Amino acid sequence: MSSKFPQFVTKHLIIRVATASDAEMLREYYVSNQAHLAPWEPIRSEAYYTLRWWRLRINQIHSEFDEASAVSFIAMTPDKSAIVAVANFSNIIQGVFKSCYLGYSISKTYEGQGLMIEFLQSCLGFMFENVGLNRVMANYIPVNERSGALLQRLGFEREGYARKYLRIAGSWQDHVLTALLKEDWLAQQR
Ligand SMILES: CC(C)(COP(=O)(O)OP(=O)(O)OC[C@H]1O[C@@H](n2cnc3c(N)ncnc32)[C@H](O)[C@@H]1OP(=O)(O)O)[C@@H](O)C(=O)NCCC(=O)NCCS
Repeated sequence: MSSKFPQFVTKHLIIRVATASDAEMLREYYVSNQAHLAPWEPIRSEAYYTLRWWRLRINQIHSEFDEASAVSFIAMTPDKSAIVAVANFSNIIQGVFKSCYLGYSISKTYEGQGLMIEFLQSCLGFMFENVGLNRVMANYIPVNERSGALLQRLGFEREGYARKYLRIAGSWQDHVLTALLKEDWLAQQR
């Protein structure tokens, strides 16, 4: 893998940007978690579950990284046999904004073990310290209590409420708007 992509090793995870050879593992992640993710994601087409789709998506992930418009991470088991979780930092805007959006999920198999917080803490460090962001925004559907609890544990603060904000699972859903600032992140690291 090219060294331009970030890679971290944490206590339980190997974290990096997906490469071409990860297409089948990514497809498997979304196939096996279809029911788990369905309430929290857009309706997916049949093509979404094919190897071809994931090969194209990985190309797109690399283009976005090169353009500095998004950074998409996968977290793998230490033996690299399965994808545990994914996190996408998208719509990166630099200039006077220095902000992006964060989306994420963890496989049903690994949910509720503290792995998501371990994963996102490493990714957030990279986004603040290396990409140079000032703010990361993450938004969740009010009934998604697990997601709200995760963001709270990471130090995200509620900033607002947007009505019919995203079309999720086939209908327009209200979202709680939260954000983490670099200064809050740095304060947590002390
Ligand atoms: C939202 C989501 C990512 C949260 O993942 P998660 O596994 O609950 O998050 P964590 O890894 O931080 O796990 C925390 C849980 O592990 C438990 N835990 C066990 N060991 C732990 C440890 N060492 N450290 C922290 N928590 C630990 C905690 O008690 C906590 O459980 P609780 O909230 O029931 O008390 C996951 O539910 C998911 O993928 N949902 C579907 C997709 C989705 O909703 N995406 C977000 C859309 S906005």
